Amino acid sequence: MTIMGTRPEAIKLAPVVMELGRRPDFHLRLCATGQHRELLDQALASFDLTPDIDLRIMSPGQSLATVTARAVEGLFAVIARERPDVVLVQGDTTTTFCGALAAFYNRVAVAQVEAGLRTPFKYAPFPEEINRRLTTRLVDYHFAPTEGAREALLAEGVPNACIHVTGNTVIDALLMTRDRVRERRPSLPDRVAERVNGQLLVLVTGHRRESFGEGFRNICLGIRDAAEAVPDALFIYPVHLNPQVQAPVGELLGGHPRVLLVESLAYEPFVWLMDRCTVVLTDSGGVQEEAPSLGKPVLVMRDTTERPEGIAAGNARLVGTSRRRIASELITLLRDPNERARMTSVHNPYGDGRASERIVDSLHLMLVGDRPGREEEADPIAAVSSSFLQRGGTNGGG
Ligand code: UD1
Ligand code: UDP
Repeated sequence: MTIMGTRPEAIKLAPVVMELGRRPDFHLRLCATGQHRELLDQALASFDLTPDIDLRIMSPGQSLATVTARAVEGLFAVIARERPDVVLVQGDTTTTFCGALAAFYNRVAVAQVEAGLRTPFKYAPFPEEINRRLTTRLVDYHFAPTEGAREALLAEGVPNACIHVTGNTVIDALLMTRDRVRERRPSLPDRVAERVNGQLLVLVTGHRRESFGEGFRNICLGIRDAAEAVPDALFIYPVHLNPQVQAPVGELLGGHPRVLLVESLAYEPFVWLMDRCTVVLTDSGGVQEEAPSLGKPVLVMRDTTERPEGIAAGNARLVGTSRRRIASELITLLRDPNERARMTSVHNPYGDGRASERIVDSLHLMLVGDRPGREEEADPIAAVSSSFLQRGGTNGGG
């Protein structure tokens, strides 16, 4: 049973679900909590997926406590009824943690996709860092995207035999979608199609809870300053549906002639824009992973990141939520092609597009072979590796 609740979980689990569907040995149940509604449906539709079970838990402006309570209660009942051999969760959302907890309460094995991401800070990102750490304690099989993630898990005492470095499934989703949109332009909202014509283009996303309030106001002001300073640049900002994001963005950027606020985009048009833009400005985890694979410079509006590989590769830069820093970094990159060139080598530190295949191979071994918790040498999954895993990532274009 795969469990998902939000947009990034749908996008990152879609390639795994598709791969499971190609293997006759698996009987898959796709369970959505519906922590997100429109964003989840939009992401699922991009991959033609329909949940078998949908708990529909979202309420407007929901609190963390409400999402957690509804998700655990609903998922506990579903897992108790369906009794899957394994529950698969992804990432670090509240649905992720609750899926793992509900499986544990039912004594059902848990596997986590995108395991082992860490910052040293309890509150950054909030609440994802704690969701990750708690989820790790509940998980039997850890699909880590990078060697760095494996090391973080080892440092917390997770046995090596239960960790499998696979690459990140978001790169599987990205590369298949990139190929499709390069072949045929996806349909874009009219306002976007009318305005994009080869100019300097900044693609913006932002939604982190730790930035709500002052942080978001500064982000918007930084964008506005940069838009004023570089009049030949167009900013396209698909605004997250969270009311805490919609309010400041609408107030501070609405009506600016060169900042186009649009509704969240389906995955294909979003990838199309990422592939065409000059710079990405984001606090998103998924976008931080995708942009380097398209050779795009990314300014990350956070003080810390659990995805250091993009920073080390030179494609990403942490700019925090300071108005002045966001504006000055944007202006420099937009005005100076040499500065951009230093950040634009195509680099795939997060995967090679085959993560889902590796995950499903591992799951197969796990389900037909040994059970969790056996010693390293007895675990057949420890044998699953590839040259990608041993190299710890790849360079070069997707
Ligand atoms: C959630 C995840 C975050 C992830 C992000 C991806 C938690 C606590 N947070 O944050 O880790 O990075 O999703 O986008 O798990 N809303 C809608 N429709 C939607 C989605 C959201 O109206 O389709 C609005 C609702 O008012 C909802 C609010 O946004 O109550 C917050 O949604 P929630 O899932 O709690 O948090 P996100 O900030 O979206
Ligand atoms: N994305 C999308 N449409 C948008 C904005 C983002 O399809 O309008 C995709 C993006 O390509 C990435 C994922 O959504 O794969 C990231 O989701 P989000 O930023 O909401 O969550 P995070 O990754 O920060 O958890």
